[in-house]
Amino acid sequence: MLKNKKIAVIGAGHIGSAIIGGILKAKLISPKSVTASRRSAEALDELKKRFGIQTTPDNRRAVKGADILILAVKPQGAPALLEEIAPVVREDQLLISVMAGVTTERINKLLGKPNPIVRAMPNTPALVDAGATPLSKGAHAKDADLAIAETIFKAVGIVEIVPESLMDAVTGLSGSGPVYIYMVIEALIDGGVKMGIPRTVARRLAAQTVLGAAKLVIETGKHPAILKDEVTTPGGTAIAAVHMLESKGLRNVLIEAVATAARRSQELSRPGDAGS
Ligand SMILES: NC(=O)c1ccc[n+]([C@@H]2O[C@H](COP(=O)([O-])OP(=O)(O)OC[C@H]3O[C@@H](n4cnc5c(N)ncnc54)[C@H](OP(=O)(O)O)[C@@H]3O)[C@@H](O)[C@H]2O)c1
Repeated sequence: MLKNKKIAVIGAGHIGSAIIGGILKAKLISPKSVTASRRSAEALDELKKRFGIQTTPDNRRAVKGADILILAVKPQGAPALLEEIAPVVREDQLLISVMAGVTTERINKLLGKPNPIVRAMPNTPALVDAGATPLSKGAHAKDADLAIAETIFKAVGIVEIVPESLMDAVTGLSGSGPVYIYMVIEALIDGGVKMGIPRTVARRLAAQTVLGAAKLVIETGKHPAILKDEVTTPGGTAIAAVHMLESKGLRNVLIEAVATAARRSQELSRPGDAGS
């Protein structure tokens, strides 16, 4: 699907370079068909060495040579970037934006052009090809545009298609979600250390436990409550911990965390107040 396309990644930082790494590793495109732009010459040299792609500090040049533009600067940089590239953006170019909280309507408005736009909300596990990326299409994007974005983000994990109205909600769940899980892992490590386990051992056990539990949910397709019931022996250790976690409101806290982050995303997406 991407074989005859040229892609420009504008703002090739963490997320941008994870996408470049993913699509090259999956052999969706050849390195010579990918151009990355950012301001730091040193970082561009590194990208060139690492991936063998074209690089330029000139966003307009990157835009001119591409069929697909991946916009990956920070949300605060969106207005200036869109103003800069607007004169050279062609209306047939597909824009894929990962900029948190910047709506497709706003991008079209800032560009002053009705380009097809797909919005993506990847998360940092995309760096290790285990990302979760909700995608939504803007008013001018077609199913074929969405399919292109789907191909790209499947190279770095899983993809879910959602209406754009759910973009704040998915930001609260999978976008910010890795942070909640890092806190869970950190706390599990401390629990192990408290009970005498060496920290390095506790760290490996805690992280693998989270990974393994997630894998079981995904691979068995079973409801997590069923998996939980299967390992809570009557009168055993796990049910004793379940009782304690319920009394402290663990599930309520996590539900509130997702809702709070989603509300914050909504606040930040108001024009003039965008942020990640
Ligand atoms: N990290 C996440 O978990 C995550 C998840 C979902 C969405 N996002 C979104 O992804 C975007 C990038 O996030 P990130 O974590 O990858 O940030 P990042 O590492 O800071 O990447 C942004 C890049 O943009 C470049 N840049 C800034 N201004 C530019 C300009 N005018 N022209 C060209 N390049 C420019 C910066 O490089 P120079 O300073 O060298 O120009 C930087 O490398 C954000 O919009 C964020 O909302 C991030």
